[in-house]
Amino acid sequence: MPNFSKLITAALEARQRAVAPYSKFQVGAALQTFDGEIISGANVESASYGLSCCAERVALFKALTEGEQSFSALAVASAGGAAPCGACRQIIAEYAREAEILLIDAADAKNPVFTSIDKLLPDAFTEDDLPTV
Ligand code: THU
Repeated sequence: MPNFSKLITAALEARQRAVAPYSKFQVGAALQTFDGEIISGANVESASYGLSCCAERVALFKALTEGEQSFSALAVASAGGAAPCGACRQIIAEYAREAEILLIDAADAKNPVFTSIDKLLPDAFTEDDLPTV
């Protein structure tokens, strides 16, 4: 069993940087690459609420645009240890399919719930469903 303590700490630290003035619901996410790099992100909200972006997608978009492509783990930290929303599940299925997912309750960070995108989004629609050109 890998040691996830650095990844969990990164997700908790990212959560502190959430920009969530409207919902006040702070979420931090941290990805680990197979090379051991950690990239984190937090939710960012807009006064035009629908433009807000979840922590998971902020972290993934950061990582992908920094050149990272494969991820072994994703930790998500919030009050209560919420699971990723539907939109984030879709993006995780496409770009972090192999990642072990850790759901962290910020008040009990030593006891993550372990899950996977196959459990959270079975039968995901992916590039494999698109006709080849
Ligand atoms: N949020 C996330 O960051 N990740 C999720 O998977 C669920 C929701 C954020 C979006 C919004 O800023 C706040 O939590 C309340 O919905």
